[in-house]
This record gives sequence, structure tokens and C-alpha cells, in this order.
Amino acid sequence: MADRSFYLTTPIYYVNSVPHLGTAYTTIAADALARYRRLVGDDVYFLTGLDEHGQKVAQAAETNGMSPQEWVDSIAPKFEDTWELLDITNDDFIRTTEPRHERAASHLLEVLKENGDLYQGHYEGWYCLPDETFYTQEQLGEGKCCPSCGREVQFIREDNWFFRLSAYQDRLLEHYAAHPEFIQPETRRNEVVSFVQSGLKDLSVSRTAFTWGIPLPWDPDHVMYVWFDALINYISAVGYGDPAKADEFARRWPAQFHFVGKDIIRFHCAIWPAMLMAAGLELPQTVFAHGFLLTKGEKMSKSKGNVMAPAELVERFGVDAYRYYFLRDVQFGTDGSISLESMVQRFNGDLANDWGNLCSRLFSMTRKYFDGIVPQPVEAPVLHEFDDAFRGIAEGLPAAYERAMSRLDYAAALESAWELIKATNRYIEDNAPWNLAKAEETRERLQTVIYNALEAVRIAALFTAPVMPRTSAEVWRRLSLGDIHATTDLATESAWGRLPVGNVVEKGEPLFMRIVEEEDAG
Ligand code: MSP
Repeated sequence: MADRSFYLTTPIYYVNSVPHLGTAYTTIAADALARYRRLVGDDVYFLTGLDEHGQKVAQAAETNGMSPQEWVDSIAPKFEDTWELLDITNDDFIRTTEPRHERAASHLLEVLKENGDLYQGHYEGWYCLPDETFYTQEQLGEGKCCPSCGREVQFIREDNWFFRLSAYQDRLLEHYAAHPEFIQPETRRNEVVSFVQSGLKDLSVSRTAFTWGIPLPWDPDHVMYVWFDALINYISAVGYGDPAKADEFARRWPAQFHFVGKDIIRFHCAIWPAMLMAAGLELPQTVFAHGFLLTKGEKMSKSKGNVMAPAELVERFGVDAYRYYFLRDVQFGTDGSISLESMVQRFNGDLANDWGNLCSRLFSMTRKYFDGIVPQPVEAPVLHEFDDAFRGIAEGLPAAYERAMSRLDYAAALESAWELIKATNRYIEDNAPWNLAKAEETRERLQTVIYNALEAVRIAALFTAPVMPRTSAEVWRRLSLGDIHATTDLATESAWGRLPVGNVVEKGEPLFMRIVEEEDAG
């Protein structure tokens, strides 16, 4: 097993509805990072799951005429099926109704109580049910609408247990200052810093108005506030509070990355670290907040009725193209507009033209000129001018890709892989193998050119694999290479010259069939 543990998480999704493009977006991004870190040899633990308690879920169950448990059990498989459809390689799938989570959550609460961080009080204020968030009058201003989602808030009065969040204000600010990487991107960090600087209020952490939640161990008339319950999933999944799993917990925690949408950073960057501080636990290294996917300029959400189902797009474009589009066309960290039109453009341009055609024409030339066998490159005493520049691009790719991925800049990471793909297309044009094939004197040059181009394709497939796992596996299969997903040493595998001479190359069907009927795009 590799030494380095790399633990990354997505938010756990509410089960009030089925997965949509927004929730799939976070999950795909996390999956691409998980796959990349496995390629470089880390011992990855990738967690996703479901947020199954709370008033909103209880209401969804009621509306559908089911008990909350029946309801969550009916929705959970839809999430699991969607993640399977999208080739998500999560190592664990946590549901907050599982005993392992309930035990850990109760344990954490007991610890907080023993440490004097919880006290009884009375809450009067506003509550946004769809976001399960408390608001003060000042936060609302004049209106009665949620500042985050714009929906109407309700006034609630309850006897609750409170968490001394205010006591952690200074320590949180110190942590942000000492660890600039803790909240990314920077705009989000600034937002959280000014939120915390403006003063933290203690947080109500239990509810009595309904029963669908984890009862407080010492006061079962109260159930845990759903956000408090949910955040704990990140540690309950890796064994917190379970003596039998102490080693696992020590190895996995703290997490390297929490992936979240920008709407939930206060929970992840203020409340969650304060909970961890109160429990004497380390903080995660980075909370990375991505933006919203917008369709026609509006946030995609169920209430706005502009939600597209991932399955529809997968059916039309295929899984790899789906994953590619969202990570290439939307800058991770900022809001991004998505449309069928731009998806078709990316598909036809980047995938069918650049990548798919490169493989087709190169593999068919290998069949035509070398009976489908990887030829022996024959280098002249001095490296050919074309080869030098070309190899330089392939050799620069690992570092460029790593730089981009360490900032979760998927677009730039893909761009760097595309530089090699485009350079390979140019290399073929510049060297015109079809001319070299005409004379015996240029036979050796032809061997070298085809070898080099095939080698570049082998390397490009490695670096596109985290985002497009199926296509990369197929390209490697056609080159008679092993299972690309078994690679755990990218540094060695991506070195130039590892393509074995003599391997059989299969032409195969086009990897991406150009989409022609664009009338209904938009
Ligand atoms: N259950 C909470 C998270 C608890 S984590 C301890 C929750 N669930 S959610 O299902 O509403 O949303 C989860 C994530 O999906 C959020 O990070 C949110 O930003 C993301 N998305 C939902 N709609 C989105 C878009 N339209 N675009 C991009 N992502 C958005 O919040």
C-alpha cells in the first residue's frame, strides 16, 4: 500500500430529490482528482454520501406518502446508480442514517458537552427550510427571503441546545491567516474571513419541532440540527469514535480536500472547523468551493425547474464526454454557463476532431505501413528538429498537469494534455508520413515518426484518464498496453520511450462520432 493517504470528500447530498447536474458536477470533479492521485501512487480514500436527516427530508417523505426511512431508502439507490453511470470511483458511500454515523455523531456531541461547549437556551429567529439554515434579523434585512436561495424563511421559537461558536472566532481567524490554503479559491477565503470578522453568534444545534434526526444522547426530546449531524460524516466515515478503527482514523484524518459548492462554505469553513477545534481534532487541509452551473444565466436548481438529468446527457454524449465538458468548459471555482450548444462544440472540436481523429488516422497508418505493429524508431545521429520540440511538449506535460491539478484547475490540466494532442496532430502534418512511405530511403524516418506519434498518444491517454477513463483505457487497449487504471506510478509511466516496439495496434471504431444534428441544441 502506498504511504501517502489522500482523503477527499464531496458534500453529502440531500435526499429530498434525485441527483442532478449540479450535484454530479461536484462529484465528477472530486472523482477526477481521486483518479489522478491514484495514478501518482497515493493511497486514496474518496468519500461521498447522503444527508438523510432533517426537516426538509422529513417533509419530502411526507409529501410522497412514505416514512422518512422508507423515503431515504428509496432515493439512496438513485444516487448510487447515478455515480455508477458516471464512473465515479468513490471508496465509501456514507448515509447519515447508518449506525456507524449515528454513533460517531453522538460521541462527538458528548465530547463537546463534556468540554463545556454546549449549553441550553431558547432560539427565536428565522429559518430557511430548503437550505436548513438559521438567519438573524440583521442577515435578512428588510425582507423575509433567504439571502442565499431567495426563498421565503419562517420564524421559529424553540428551546434548543447551543454550541459556543462565538468562542472560536479568534482561533478561526488565526487559522485562516496561518493557513492560506485552508479556504480556496481566494475570493471565498476573503468572504469567510469577513463573515467571521463581523462576529459569530452561538449556533443552535438541536431541534424539537420534529423528530427525524439523531436524538441528543442526554436529552432525546431533541434531535441534532441537520448541519451539525451532516458535517460529522467526514470523520464518522473514517472511524471517528470507534475504538476498533482508531488506526484507520489516525491514518485518514485530517482530510486533504473537502469539495463543496460556494453556497455552503460558512458551514465548512467556520462551523465545521470550530466543531473540530472544540473536539480537539485537526482541521482539514483545504476546503475548495466551486461555483454554480448556470443555464441561461440562472443557477440550476429544482425549484427553478431548469434541472437536467445527468442520464439524458450521458445517453447523448457518452460518459467521458460528459465528464470532459463540465471540467473543461467551466472554470472550477467560478460560476459557469452550460448549454447543449457548447457541449456539442466541445464534443466535435476537442474530442471527435483533435483526440478521436488523431487516434484513428495514426492507428490506421500503423496498420497500413507496418501491418499494425509498433515500429522501431531509428534516430539519426542528431535528433530531428521536429522531434526535439515535440518530445519537449510530452516531457513538460507531467509538471504542467500537476501544477494545474494542485490548484484544482481542471481546465488548465486538460489544456496541457491537449497541447500534446494538438502537437501530435501537427507533428503528423509536418512530417507527412504518407510522403515518407513512398520511398525506401525514408523508411527509417517513417518508423521514427509513427513511433513518436504513437508514444505521444500513449502519454496523452495517461493524462486524460482522470477525466475520461473509458477512452483512455480503450486507447491503451488498442496499443496492447496493460490496464491504464492499474497505473500507480505516473512519473515512471509517463517517461518518453516506454511504448514497446512490436506491440500490436488495433484500429478500432472512431472514439467519438461527430454529432451532426445541431438544430435542437441551445
Ligand atoms: N446536504 C448539504 C451538504 C452537507 S455536507 C456536510 C447540501 N446538499 S445539497 O444536495 O443541497 O447540495 C450539495 C452540493 O451540490 C452543494 O455543494 C451545492 O453547491 C451543489 N450544487 C447544487 N446545485 C448546484 C449547481 N447548480 N451548480 C453547482 N453545484 C451546485 O447542501
